[in-house]
Amino acid sequence: MAVRQILKIGNPQLLQKAAPVTAFNNQELDDIISDMFDTMSAQDGAGLAAPQIGISLRIVIFGLEENPRYPDAETVPTTILINPQIMALSDSIDEDWEGCLSVPNMRGLVPRYSHIRYAGFDPQGVSLDRSVQGFHARVVQHEVDHLEGILYPQRIRDMRMFGYESELPQEEEE
Ligand code: NI
Repeated sequence: MAVRQILKIGNPQLLQKAAPVTAFNNQELDDIISDMFDTMSAQDGAGLAAPQIGISLRIVIFGLEENPRYPDAETVPTTILINPQIMALSDSIDEDWEGCLSVPNMRGLVPRYSHIRYAGFDPQGVSLDRSVQGFHARVVQHEVDHLEGILYPQRIRDMRMFGYESELPQEEEE
């Protein structure tokens, strides 16, 4: 298995809508997912979508135990989510800072639904259905956006709240 190159913003492949996975429980799918985990871990990412390594399929992975990129974030179980669907559970929106391995060294303030339900399949084709909130909900919305060809800068409402991590003011403790 291998750490793959991550496509960066500007690459037209990141703007494509990814295709559904149609065959589960096979070596090809397992190899893709294994490469995704190797690639995400190598970059200390909290999530990765298959299109980010040039594979236009509806596969995302995410998870956060302790991560130096997100020192204050809530933990999220390590999850493989295939052919995902998302439903907002309320109109409530949170704004918080996001980064993306396809937009290196930058951060932006992004609105996301606070509470969502998401469903999809694991690599064996077993269905998964969760209702989540907070950082978990944010990560899922960010990753599923990649499958629609949407990168987080497109969601930023105030472009003054977008910039290099090294230049942005430190966040105040709440
Ligand atoms: Ni991303």
